[in-house]
Amino acid sequence: MAESTPDSAVPVLQLQHLHKTFRVGFWAKKVPAVRDVSVTLQAGESLGYLGPTGSGKTTSIKCLLGLVVPTGGQARLFGRPATDPHARARVGYLPESPYFYDYLTPTEVLDYVGKLYGLSAADRSRRTRELLGLVGLDEAARRPLRGFSKGMLQRVGIAQSLVADPQLLIWDEPLSGLDPMGRKEVRDLMVELRRQGKSLFFSSHVLGDIEALCDAVCILDRGVAVAQGKLSELLRPDALESEAVLGLPADLDGALQALQALPEAAVNRTATGVRVVLPTAAVPALCRIVADLSLDLRELSARRDSLEELFLRKAVARGAEAAG
Ligand SMILES: Nc1ncnc2c1ncn2[C@@H]1O[C@H](COP(=O)(O)OP(=O)(O)OP(=O)(O)O)[C@@H](O)[C@H]1O
Ligand SMILES: [Mg+2]
Repeated sequence: MAESTPDSAVPVLQLQHLHKTFRVGFWAKKVPAVRDVSVTLQAGESLGYLGPTGSGKTTSIKCLLGLVVPTGGQARLFGRPATDPHARARVGYLPESPYFYDYLTPTEVLDYVGKLYGLSAADRSRRTRELLGLVGLDEAARRPLRGFSKGMLQRVGIAQSLVADPQLLIWDEPLSGLDPMGRKEVRDLMVELRRQGKSLFFSSHVLGDIEALCDAVCILDRGVAVAQGKLSELLRPDALESEAVLGLPADLDGALQALQALPEAAVNRTATGVRVVLPTAAVPALCRIVADLSLDLRELSARRDSLEELFLRKAVARGAEAAG
C-alpha cells in the first residue's frame, strides 16, 4: 500500500486502536497500560502526546519503535508496520531516560550512531560537529559522559536522534531533566526542526511547557485518549472566567453580601482581603460594586483556558462517567 501511495498522503505515524496489557508477577496479573488509542500524524506536523505519570505514553512510543509488541491494534510508521526496518530507519528516537556507556564522549557516541546508519567518516565528523553545536555541547565534546548532568545527557540523546537527519522524530519527554534555560533551548530547537519540515511526535507530562510547540495534542488518562485534536479547537477561545483580588473592605459583611449576589461568582475571604472568581461577562457588574462600595481592587485578570484545565475537565468527566 505504502509503495503505491504518494509519500505526502501517507501519515508518517499512526496508532490504530492500540492496546497494550502487561502481565506481571507470578500470577501474571494484567496491567493495562494503553487501551484503544488511535492517533495520526501527517508529514510536517507536530503532535504533543500528553498525560500524567503512568498514563501510557512511553508504552505507546515503545510500540511505535517495535520495542514492545501491542496486545491489540497497530502501530505504523510511513504506512508500514512499526517493526519494518525501512520505516524505522527514517525515525530519530529519544528514549525517556537515554543511557550510554559512561566512558564514551559525546563525539564517540555520535560517531558510533553515524556508523550504525552507514555514514562515511567525513559525514560523521561533520555531522557530529554540527549536532554538538546545535545542542550546546561543543565544550564537552571530548569529555566522558560519566561526569555529565541529566540535562547534558538529555542533549546527547537529542543529538544522537538527529544523526541520520530523520524525517520523523519520536521524542519521549524531551524537556525532562532540563533547567529553565535548557528547556527553552530544546523548545527553540523543536521550533527550528518544525521549520525545517520535520514531523515531531513527543510526549510530556508538563502540559504548559508545550502549548506553543504542537499543531495538535493527544491527551491520555490511564491509557485512554481523553482529548485529541488541534489546540485551537480543544481550548476555549475566550477568557470565560476572570479573577479579582480585593483588599480587606471596611464593611466586610456588606461587601461579601454584594459580591455573593453576582451570578456564578465564587467569593473567598483570604488573609489579606477577598478573592472573586466569576464569569468574564459579570466583570462590569463587579466593577459597579467596586465603585459603589469604594472597594480596593488590587488585581483583575482574565483566566485563559489551558491544557491543564482541559485535562482536568476531561479527566473529571471520565471519572464521573465511570462512577455513573
Ligand atoms: N514493562 C512493564 N511491565 C509491567 N507494567 C508496565 C511496564 N511498562 C509500563 N508498565 C505500566 O504501564 C502503565 C503505563 O506506563 P508508561 O510508562 O507507559 O506511562 P507514561 O505515561 O510514560 O508515564 P511517565 O509520565 O511516568 O513516563 C503504568 O501503570 C506502568 O506501571
Ligand atoms: Mg514515560
